[in-house]
Amino acid sequence: DAFGRRISLDEAAAVVQSAQLHGPLTDAPSAIFHNLHLMQSRLAELKSAFPPNTLHAIAIKANPVLEILRAVVQEGCGLEAASIEEVQLALAAGCPPQRVIFDSPAKTTAEIRQALNAGIYLNVDNFEELHRIATELQTRASNSVVGLRVNPQVGGGTISLTSVANTDSKFGIPLSTNRAAILEAFASHAWLRGLHIHVGSQGCAMGLLTDAITIADTLRKEIEQHSGQVVTHLDIGGGLPTVYQSDLTAPTPAEYVAEIRKRAPDVLSPDLQRITEFGRAVQANCGFAASRVEYYKPAQQMAVIHLGADFLLRPVYRPEDWPHEFFVLDAQGFPKTGETRPVTIVGPLCFGGDIVARDVQLPPIEAGDWIVIRDVGAYTLSMWSRHCSRGIPAVIGYEPDRLDTMQVLRPAESPEDIVRYWGHGEQI
Ligand code: LLP
Repeated sequence: DAFGRRISLDEAAAVVQSAQLHGPLTDAPSAIFHNLHLMQSRLAELKSAFPPNTLHAIAIKANPVLEILRAVVQEGCGLEAASIEEVQLALAAGCPPQRVIFDSPAKTTAEIRQALNAGIYLNVDNFEELHRIATELQTRASNSVVGLRVNPQVGGGTISLTSVANTDSKFGIPLSTNRAAILEAFASHAWLRGLHIHVGSQGCAMGLLTDAITIADTLRKEIEQHSGQVVTHLDIGGGLPTVYQSDLTAPTPAEYVAEIRKRAPDVLSPDLQRITEFGRAVQANCGFAASRVEYYKPAQQMAVIHLGADFLLRPVYRPEDWPHEFFVLDAQGFPKTGETRPVTIVGPLCFGGDIVARDVQLPPIEAGDWIVIRDVGAYTLSMWSRHCSRGIPAVIGYEPDRLDTMQVLRPAESPEDIVRYWGHGEQI
C-alpha cells in the first residue's frame, strides 16, 4: 500500500548521510529530497485502483519541478495545469497535449487560442469563458476537449482556504442557481463534452468528494436527457487528503473507488472517460527537506534553520492546519537520541512570524545538527516566497535502495541567480 507509506527516520538519515558524502549537502545548508520510487508506486496504485479509460492528470501546482513532471508523464499519467506557464511546463515535460488539462479560472483569449491550437484539454470556469471559446471555435477547428467546471456546492472541509466547493467559492459555475443554464450550454454547444468538479483534499472527508461525484453523475445524465448530447469526459478533480501525522491514516484510492462504486457506479462505466487531478495525495509524503541548525539558542530552546516561511508558507501561517513532523539528525546524519524537550524551530527570514514550529518535542539539539521536515513534497516549493531573496535549495531525486546515485532534479540557486532574478531594468 504505497499510499500508507511515508519516509521513515532511517531512510531520511541514510539519504542525508549519503548527500553529505557526495553532493548536495556537502556545503549547502539545506536540500529538498523526493523519493521517486515512492512516487512511482503511488502512481501505479492510483492507476490500478481506477478502471481503464481513466486519465490521471497530476496537479503541477503541487510540485512543478520539471524532472518530477517528466517522471509522472513517463508513468503514462497526464498533468493538470493551473496557468499557461504550467501548460508550458507540461509540454516541456513531454506530456502529449491531449493529456494536459488546463484549469485556470483566468485564461486570457490568447491563452485559450494557444490551448485550442495545441489540442489541449480545457476546463471552462464560467459562462463568459465559454462564450469566448465559442467565438474562437467559429474560426478554427480544434482537437481540444472542452469541459465545464461546475461547483457542486457540497460544502467545505475543515481547512477553509483549500476547500472550494462551498456555496460561494470563486471557482466554477454554482450548480444550484445555474442548473437550467448549464443544460442549455450543453444543448447549444456540440463541442462541450466534459464536466469538471473539484472539492479540495486536505480536511475534506472522502464522503464530501463522493457527494460531489454523485451530484456530477446525476447532472451528466440530466444533460444527456435534455440535450441528447453525450458527456464523454468526467473530471472528478483533485484528490484525497494525505497524512502529516504518525497517528493518522488517509483513505486509499482503492477505498475511494469502492465508495464511488457504491454511490455512483455509472461513473466507473467503461464508456465514460474519467479524469482525476490528484496532487497532494501523490506528492506530499514523497518529499522531505533537511536543513542545518545554524544556531541553537539554549535560553529560548530555539533552533535557527535555513528554511522558513519562504518554503513553508502554509504551515507558518496556519500551523493548526498543517502539523508537520520533524526528525533530528546529528552533523553526520545519524538519528539523535536523548530525552525529548520542547523546541521552537525558526526560519531565516526577517519577520517575527517566521516560526516553522513551536514547542515540538525533540531530542537535544545543537548547532550543526540537521532538522528533517517530513511530508513536504506538495505545495511547499511551489509556493516559495522571495522574501529576503534566499535561493531555493537543490531538489534531489532518489530511490531508497540506490542512494549512491542520487539525481539533481533542480540545482540550488546561487546568489548570482538571485541577482539575475531581481533583474536589470531597461529604457523603453
Ligand atoms: N484540480 C484543481 C482544479 C485544483 O484546484 C487542485 C488544487 C487540484 C486539482 C489538486 O488537488 P490536490 O489533490 O492536490 O488537493 N495553495 C494550496 C493548495 C490548494 C490546492 C489547490 N488546488 C495550499 O495552500 O495548500
